[in-house]
Amino acid sequence: MAVQQTNPFGNKDPRIITLKAPVAPTLPVGGTVAQDVPAAEAPSAPPPLVEVKDLCTWFPIKKGIFARTAGYVKAVNGVSFTMEAGETLGVVGESGCGKSTLSRTILRLEKPHSGSVHFMGQDVFALKGKDLLQYRRDLQVVFQDPHATLNPRHSILDILTEGMLVHDLIKPKEAQDAAAELLRDVGLQPDAMFRYPHAFSGGQRQRICIARAIALKPKMIICDEAVSALDLSIRAQVLNLLMELKDKYHLAYLFITHDIGVVEHIADNIIVMFKGEIVERGPAEKVLLHPEEPYTKRLIAAVPRVGA
Ligand SMILES: Nc1ncnc2c1ncn2[C@@H]1O[C@H](COP(=O)(O)OP(=O)(O)OP(=O)(O)O)[C@@H](O)[C@H]1O
Ligand SMILES: [Mg+2]
Repeated sequence: MAVQQTNPFGNKDPRIITLKAPVAPTLPVGGTVAQDVPAAEAPSAPPPLVEVKDLCTWFPIKKGIFARTAGYVKAVNGVSFTMEAGETLGVVGESGCGKSTLSRTILRLEKPHSGSVHFMGQDVFALKGKDLLQYRRDLQVVFQDPHATLNPRHSILDILTEGMLVHDLIKPKEAQDAAAELLRDVGLQPDAMFRYPHAFSGGQRQRICIARAIALKPKMIICDEAVSALDLSIRAQVLNLLMELKDKYHLAYLFITHDIGVVEHIADNIIVMFKGEIVERGPAEKVLLHPEEPYTKRLIAAVPRVGA
């Protein structure tokens, strides 16, 4: 059963606010689990796609001529959550609350002070060799500023196919066909592959970044403020594109934004961060329609509305 409601932003997009009937916990009736299913034969549940446990990423504050550590900026402090395959988790919070540090730690670009990140059951910080290469393939990222992340001297063909060639997914003679398919996937013309990044608008450049992210057929994409720099109409188009690609390739998104109004369009679940910690979490419709924390209420109240 699905109940449709208008969300707090007056939007009636059926994909956003769909209240699902709660799933009743299944309890063994008339006997214990052990009697019904022998423990050895009970199928074990697959691990979640991502499991972050008590993650702390702290940056030392150095003082004095000997650069003594006088304290820490606790950018991420005791964060725990799980994500399933195909899920979109929105991470919201004001500037400086630790969203990018969280994503950079999951990407192994920052070393955590403590805590763990598991991806499909594997400890991300212990990965080496082939497993690490596979992780680099399975997890992709799209940043806010496509201009800064696209090499201006490389053609779109090179940008899109470099990763596929490195990972040996295609032969050099297949590069043009592969690039054409990726460009079509993100709503651009195949002949765009012969141009360079400067020859595109901001929205088109972000589509190219998304095409590069899906080129390696990842399981998950981290979108760190991926639509924040786009104007409203282009932002909506790129969000729609992300939703189409999610369905087509069964992608999970960790969707990071300081603007809670953006995640209402895309997230299944939301975590709200404040000063490095999670202050509220839950299904998107619950957090948006019935926020419990004053901080979440303030974030929702801060979303600009036309005519408000
Ligand atoms: N390399 C670093 N060294 C020291 N402090 C850092 C470093 N990177 C981030 N910080 C600090 O960690 C805190 C969290 O920063 P972070 O970039 O994760 O915030 P954010 O939520 O992504 O903000 P925004 O929405 O503005 O992108 C900030 O106080 C920032 O100054
Ligand atoms: Mg950030």
